[in-house]
Amino acid sequence: MLSIDLSGKRALVAGVADDGGFGFAIAKALAMAGAAVSVATWPPALNIFLNLLERGKMDESRRMPDGSLLTFEHIYPLDAVYDTLADAPEDVRTSKRYKDVGDFSMEGLAARISADYGEKGLDIVVHSLANGPEVKKALMETSRAGYLAAVSASAYSMVSLVSHLAPIMRDGGAFVSLTYMASERAIPGYGGGMSSAKAALESDTRVLAYEVGRKYGHRVNTISAGPYASRAASAIGIIDRMVQYCGQNAPLTEHLKAEEVGTAAAFLCSPLASGITGSTVYVDKGYHAMGMAVAATDQLL
Ligand SMILES: NC(=O)c1ccc[n+]([C@@H]2O[C@H](COP(=O)([O-])OP(=O)(O)OC[C@H]3O[C@@H](n4cnc5c(N)ncnc54)[C@H](O)[C@@H]3O)[C@@H](O)[C@H]2O)c1
Repeated sequence: MLSIDLSGKRALVAGVADDGGFGFAIAKALAMAGAAVSVATWPPALNIFLNLLERGKMDESRRMPDGSLLTFEHIYPLDAVYDTLADAPEDVRTSKRYKDVGDFSMEGLAARISADYGEKGLDIVVHSLANGPEVKKALMETSRAGYLAAVSASAYSMVSLVSHLAPIMRDGGAFVSLTYMASERAIPGYGGGMSSAKAALESDTRVLAYEVGRKYGHRVNTISAGPYASRAASAIGIIDRMVQYCGQNAPLTEHLKAEEVGTAAAFLCSPLASGITGSTVYVDKGYHAMGMAVAATDQLL
């Protein structure tokens, strides 16, 4: 039987701070396939996440098919907008949520992973994070600072993650990130430069795939997921309507489940996908294939 087997592999999922987003679902799917999983969490969300875990508030979603609970080998602090600790401004470094977590930069993450697992101890890296402080503003209303912040947190963070972690991955490593169709089609409401950031992320996926493919033999892909009401997506303000719209207009009308993104990511990270790199893979119930809203025609099926 052909099955996804990640036993003996070690994975890092960056961008997990609760059980309501794609990162958590991907972490769980990777663990179900046998991988040992660590996560990286944004310092402002870290304490709440640890509390939820300790108080058993996520036990139901952590339940694995064999009855055990999903566990993370390590929970690393990561603020993906800083490549080195010195890049973080003094007021951030000394603020309540950051001052006691140690080096929360990309460099710090790579150093901790090497210390925990040796020079080549990682196989899979998932980038499941994004931030656009002005996401509710139209692109035309977006400030330069807001636009650059969106691109820094949501696109350059992937470049940095790859450049810091590719060298400490075993041969045949796999990277996966999460993108959204607003990169290639105008989606009203997805503002603040987030559409630009996703376009950059997809373009960088192709270039990074070439570069780390040639240099290390690793693969880089991105999943273009359909709308899903995670915590981050709820910040957009219209996520419920986006979910409903896709349900009405996609080839498959059931709403997208995070688990469907999780299993697709597990496949892309597995040896079964050894021939796939530099790709944007749609996990959106087929919505991307449509050219006209169903309600605009009489062709309701
Ligand atoms: N939910 C959707 O509708 C949807 C659709 C397509 C793509 N995506 C993408 O999926 C990915 C995961 O998002 P999600 O919707 O599952 O929400 P989520 O809230 O589960 O994940 C976003 C994570 O990013 C983290 N984060 C924000 N800024 C950070 C920073 N500077 N450093 C480190 N971490 C930071 C947050 O703490 C959070 O854990 C994102 O890239 C998002 O754009 C989401």
